[in-house]
Amino acid sequence: MVDFGAQYAQLIARRVREANVYSEIVPHTVTASEIAAKRPAGIVLSGGPSSVYEEGAPKLDEAILDLGVPVLGICYGFQVMATALGGEVAKTGQREYGSTAVRISDTGVLLDGQPTEQTAWMSHGDSVSRAPEGFEVLASTPGTPVAAFANDERKLYGVQWHPEVKHSAYGQAVLENFLHRAAGIPADWNAGNVIADQVAAIQAQIGSGRVICGLSGGVDSAVAAALVHKAVGDQLVCVFVDHGLLRKDEARQVEEDYVKATGIRLVTVNAQEQFLTALAGVSDPETKRKIIGREFIRVFEQAQADLIAEAASEGDPIRFLVQGTLYPDVVESGGGTGTANIKSHHNVGGLPEDLQFELVEPLRTLFKDEVRSIGRELGLPEEIVARQPFPGPGLGIRIVGEVTQERLDLLRDADAIVRAELTKAGLDTEIWQCPVVLLADVRSVGVQGDGRTYGHPIVLRPVSSEDAMTADWTRLPYDLLATISNRITNEVDGVNRVVLDVTSKPPGTIEWE
Ligand code: XMP
Repeated sequence: MVDFGAQYAQLIARRVREANVYSEIVPHTVTASEIAAKRPAGIVLSGGPSSVYEEGAPKLDEAILDLGVPVLGICYGFQVMATALGGEVAKTGQREYGSTAVRISDTGVLLDGQPTEQTAWMSHGDSVSRAPEGFEVLASTPGTPVAAFANDERKLYGVQWHPEVKHSAYGQAVLENFLHRAAGIPADWNAGNVIADQVAAIQAQIGSGRVICGLSGGVDSAVAAALVHKAVGDQLVCVFVDHGLLRKDEARQVEEDYVKATGIRLVTVNAQEQFLTALAGVSDPETKRKIIGREFIRVFEQAQADLIAEAASEGDPIRFLVQGTLYPDVVESGGGTGTANIKSHHNVGGLPEDLQFELVEPLRTLFKDEVRSIGRELGLPEEIVARQPFPGPGLGIRIVGEVTQERLDLLRDADAIVRAELTKAGLDTEIWQCPVVLLADVRSVGVQGDGRTYGHPIVLRPVSSEDAMTADWTRLPYDLLATISNRITNEVDGVNRVVLDVTSKPPGTIEWE
């Protein structure tokens, strides 16, 4: 996937993988020889926000089109191809955004099996006005006479619309026709193969060395550790810091269900007292975050130091550190270079200065949903694999006001009710996450039984999002909200009101602190 604009390329890479074909993203500055060295079975040129005529518009090493590797150009990539091969791209002055009617005149291999009239998602200003010589025009739209073209002999193809977005009804079929039919790539990339490949790679990297992993209770570190464990067994030790700010049952899930499913050696550090003491009297959000971060580092460092000392006394110090880095992190930070020697790494909150670890990152080529399917394939419990995002500082930043044991217990109870009801309603995969927030410094008058109450409100913050950068509040069914509200006010002492946060992000953030 040659990237002319990150958000498009990542989406295409995902769709290609959904077609069971492995894909990697490379920047558009890649040279033909660099691409050839990767020996790809097919190349996709992504869309992008530029016009091919703009000054500084991203360029392509045109020799890529002569490698003899099948190429599919999408939107900007389609126009780059057209220009490079001697076609014409014109500023027609007619922009097309959103759902657009496409008329297919000749399906060829690329559009085989598709209706001649369909709607597809467009987002372009310039248009290909003349296809390069030797190319068949396959489709047009009201705004562009050449909306798709093909040269079967050279196996070069292009579409003006965005097959990767779900609004293009037959988009996935375009990609699959290109991959499986035009390029002849079998649909054989799946979770099972990834596990086998990664296990072999981890064994080659670690050999007989020892390796450590910090478990957060989240999906990524859990799956990364499980993969490493499958590869090197008890050479791996995991550290789990229970800071007391976890949700109901979370610590137990990690300590029992996860360990039972994987057989991993786990060192749990119970640091609940330490965190509560450090947080006493603090209600400013940023101060809370800093305290939690600082204490976490202290506990984690101590646990590591103990383990390293233990390993060293046995003559084999710990050299490797597992990280649950995912592919989007790698792409966004410019590609990365595989393993890296680190001194203090922010992902685990800073390691002692004199420590040098070699990183083991078995998920660095994968997207989140792929990590989940690998977790399932490895037999991890659904409670861990399907977990929605949960912030590192945990419930500490969901209590507006001072964090106390009593308030944590109350919030844990309310949160457990919300999670159970959302699961029962089958909405876990529909929403991104649903923070439950205790307004500990706010009280309101209520009436319960025969008496007056003066309790706290609980806020429900269900959100829908693609990536947490922006979010909208989720329109949960009223009946479900009613059930949740009734259960919380009846079952959680000290709460007499449940309110719904109906703010998008921006202007609100997802978490309240
Ligand atoms: P905000 O509140 O910034 O949250 O809209 C965006 C996403 O990030 C999660 N979040 C965190 N995750 N450590 C984390 O690991 C943190 O300190 C943290 N703060 C927020 C939040 O739950 C949401 O998914």
